[in-house]
Amino acid sequence: MLLGGDNNNSSPFSRPSGFSSFLFLSFLLSFTTFAVCVRAESPPSSSPSSSPSTYSPRDNYLIDCGSGSSEQTSLDDGRTFKSDHESSSYLSTKEDIETSVDSIPVKAKSSPCPSAYPLYRSARIFTGESRYRFFISQPGPHWVRLHFYPVPHSSIKLTDAVFTVQTDKFVLLHDFSIGNTTSLVFKEYLINITGRLSIIFKPHKDSHAFINAIEVVSAPGSIISDAASTVAPRDTFTGLSNFAFEVSYRLNVGGPLVTPKNDTLSRTWLSDEAYNAFPEGSEAVSVEPKNVHYPDGGATPYIAPNWVYASAQKMKEAQVMQPNFNLTWKMSVDPSFSYLIRFHFCDIVSKSLNDLLFNVYINEFMAASSLDLSSLTNALSTAYYKDFVLNATAVKNDSITVQVGPASNAQSSLPNAILNGLEVIKLSNEAGSFDGLFAVDGTYKGDAGTKMKIVAGVGLLMGVTAIVFLGIVFVRWQRRPHDWDKRKSFSSWLLPLHSTKTSFLSSKSSSRRSSLFGSRKSKSGYSGLFSNQGLGRFFTFTELQNATQNFDENAVIGVGGFGKVYIGVLEDGNKVAIKRGNPGSEQGINEFQTEIQMLSKLRHRHLVSLIGFCDEQSEMILVYEYMANGPFRDHLYGTNQPPLSWKQRLEICIGSARGLHYLHTGAAQGIIHRDVKTTNILLDENLVAKVADFGLSKAAPMDRGYVSTAVKGSFGYLDPEYFRRQQLTEKSDVYSFGVVLFEVLCARPVINPKLPREQVSLAEWALQCHRKGILEKIIDPVIAETICKESLRKYVEAAEKCLAEYGVDRPGMGDVLWNLEYAMQLQEASTQIDHPEDKSANLIALDKPCENLSREDLAVAVSDNSEIAAGSSLFSPVGKVRGR
Ligand SMILES: *[C@@H]1O[C@H](CO)[C@@H](O)[C@H](O)[C@H]1NC(C)=O
Ligand SMILES: *[C@@H]1O[C@H](CO)[C@@H](O)[C@H](O)[C@H]1NC(C)=O
Ligand SMILES: *[C@@H]1O[C@H](CO)[C@@H](O)[C@H](O)[C@H]1NC(C)=O
Ligand SMILES: *[C@@H]1O[C@H](CO)[C@@H](O)[C@H](O)[C@H]1NC(C)=O
Ligand SMILES: *[C@@H]1O[C@H](CO)[C@@H](O)[C@H](O)[C@H]1NC(C)=O
Ligand SMILES: *[C@@H]1O[C@H](CO)[C@@H](O)[C@H](O)[C@H]1NC(C)=O
Repeated sequence: MLLGGDNNNSSPFSRPSGFSSFLFLSFLLSFTTFAVCVRAESPPSSSPSSSPSTYSPRDNYLIDCGSGSSEQTSLDDGRTFKSDHESSSYLSTKEDIETSVDSIPVKAKSSPCPSAYPLYRSARIFTGESRYRFFISQPGPHWVRLHFYPVPHSSIKLTDAVFTVQTDKFVLLHDFSIGNTTSLVFKEYLINITGRLSIIFKPHKDSHAFINAIEVVSAPGSIISDAASTVAPRDTFTGLSNFAFEVSYRLNVGGPLVTPKNDTLSRTWLSDEAYNAFPEGSEAVSVEPKNVHYPDGGATPYIAPNWVYASAQKMKEAQVMQPNFNLTWKMSVDPSFSYLIRFHFCDIVSKSLNDLLFNVYINEFMAASSLDLSSLTNALSTAYYKDFVLNATAVKNDSITVQVGPASNAQSSLPNAILNGLEVIKLSNEAGSFDGLFAVDGTYKGDAGTKMKIVAGVGLLMGVTAIVFLGIVFVRWQRRPHDWDKRKSFSSWLLPLHSTKTSFLSSKSSSRRSSLFGSRKSKSGYSGLFSNQGLGRFFTFTELQNATQNFDENAVIGVGGFGKVYIGVLEDGNKVAIKRGNPGSEQGINEFQTEIQMLSKLRHRHLVSLIGFCDEQSEMILVYEYMANGPFRDHLYGTNQPPLSWKQRLEICIGSARGLHYLHTGAAQGIIHRDVKTTNILLDENLVAKVADFGLSKAAPMDRGYVSTAVKGSFGYLDPEYFRRQQLTEKSDVYSFGVVLFEVLCARPVINPKLPREQVSLAEWALQCHRKGILEKIIDPVIAETICKESLRKYVEAAEKCLAEYGVDRPGMGDVLWNLEYAMQLQEASTQIDHPEDKSANLIALDKPCENLSREDLAVAVSDNSEIAAGSSLFSPVGKVRGR
């Protein structure tokens, strides 16, 4: 829907910032307090039960995106939008190695009309996939409103931006482009949400996405009921609650624009002028809004404000034309969707009851015949509304035409018909989309014949190719080399992916490649598969011998069941970690193959990258990126490494959680790591955490929810439920990660047999101490004093949930990540207050220790730190940052 220019003069920044900070902080501290605080944001008189003319939404997220200032934006309709800084905690940008700039807030310089709208002065631009996440405290329908205006920018033309916007379940816009229009585009959706809402912006390849403002606001549960009438044939339609809705048109017929200020639910009602197809025949009438009555049961001010019912179009006095005609409104729509059409009526024209009798048509189908408002409401000037569902098959000529005309059996002196308000609402389609047939997961739900034929053709071709390929494989298998048995274990510790720097480099000595299936001279077989899938380069054995000085014992940096890990320096000077397998380790060729397929889909900043491999001379060698700072555990205890600060530890935990979250959800089929522990979290030279060692990893099951498998993993980290039932789920990784979190906090081995019995297992001991309220006693003394209380609370809460007895009670990695990020924000806030001199010079300086901080103090600091959500690197070189 396009909104024309409106001269809303605004007085932004009128709210004292202390108040805003308080709101923001409340969100950080607890979702429940947030809900309470938001309520305080609404007018004080708001109490829906006593006075239905106001409504205080439980969830009320209003964000003015890209607004560089840390102050809020107040609109003259009384609503206040959070600034970018205050809302940064909702935003996360997908980690992508190639994306260095995640989002650029842009200031509009001066644009003619939209500058009147405070919200359109700024936009946030996304160069990669990005996501806003909102916690929804009240399950049920929510307005999701998006504002787009192509703010001028020196280098990026927002009018060219092409992007997709979707929530967890619905595609809101697909490959959307605002085009070179100067109008703003406003989109409004009504979606039933439980728990959490993500709004995801996905720029089209080489393009950008942008957004000026976002609203996510609770709506009354009764706003759209489950049933409506249908036309053609006339019947009853039930099941509306299964749909999501997009408002296409909302008209205040016969009246002026109604702004959010005059609507209990902050809706905008346009004047019907532009859609009135026969203005010559119509005449606007209106009464004082206070004269409009709402019946007991039926229409309420939530359905439409009295401003809408107080005005209407009626038929012009009939002396001048023939007495019988229709009032007609015509609106263009996307014909591939079904629509909910809501009529608002209020008889403000009749002098007595039963004087007005008219028909209602939708696209020339009779929707209601001889509608008698007074028999429905038993009074004049009383609000009434009626819903109809128009099936996509009945949408013709790309438009919806609504008509009202006098019924032929009208008894009254003058034939008449009225309409007070009209809403045309698009229903989500079978793909869960409002824009095309692509579902949120990118699958195409259409069935068009030609498309099917193409797909079938491609499928056939692929099938034939596969058969030919299998034939070749079979022949090769027959001629497999004699030393095959020695080499089949190659895969037992197969791994993650290639680094972009060195991938696809072909080896000088490719003719000497060996392969598991083919002859040494052949380029095909797994070596070929490896490179084809971008799994990295092929190394000759000689190359690796040179890199490690012939696998010198001094170059060993790790030893495991699989063999040894060496540090190596390649000819180009790059350091790598070289993992050389023992020829004795186990795992079949099938698993090797599955793992290659599985792992070829993985690539993430927080997963260790595979650079290449060597399978020459019966060798099984994998080459990884070198992680200069080694295993996380070595920085926690048992070595002479300088201790890490709380913030560094948190950042590492967050990084690992991201890696695991990606593992669980990033690939088409989730992957369970199965051996999460501090020695499998490696740190690079900047202390960025990367999850390593996928030797035990399993593809997550698609259907049953678990894999039945022999219990493997590391003692002390092992999920007891998995141990008992031998059924593996992602939640087993979550359990292990919970143990890691306590290990990080307490800096002691997860199993220490030398300790008194109840203390041997860290997981049990930490939980026990936490329950007794004495967890502080076992925290690593090096950092204990530096941890902000709130940060600790959030962190321990996350760890404790991870260790829940049953998998179903444990959070997903996404939730764990979310909690850790909070813990970090709370810690940052307290640190900033302790060091007011650094960086944020405009902060209010406070000399209070962290425990004594009031909520407002903390909020000021948090809301001023814009970098939090951007995942900035918070590290200094090891040793420089020490706990206080
Ligand atoms: C939009 O831009 C294209 C090319 O950039 C131009 O041909 C077209 O006339 C423009 N449309 C409007 C409405 O300005
Ligand atoms: C919202 O969805 C939930 C379950 O998904 C359902 O129980 C509830 O009735 C729905 N609410 C509305 C107003 O449709
Ligand atoms: C909105 O309400 C104000 C009074 O609160 C009134 O003066 C104004 O005319 C109303 N505007 C519309 C479009 O109804
Ligand atoms: C009003 O519109 C309906 C549907 O388009 C049509 O069937 C009817 O004849 C019209 N009435 C008059 C009086 O033109
Ligand atoms: C529209 O009609 C088609 C077939 O007549 C039916 O399958 C579909 O469910 C209908 N959609 C709605 C929203 O009524
Ligand atoms: C659709 O267009 C055709 C020809 O343009 C016209 O005859 C027909 O009445 C139109 N139908 C509607 C519902 O507007």
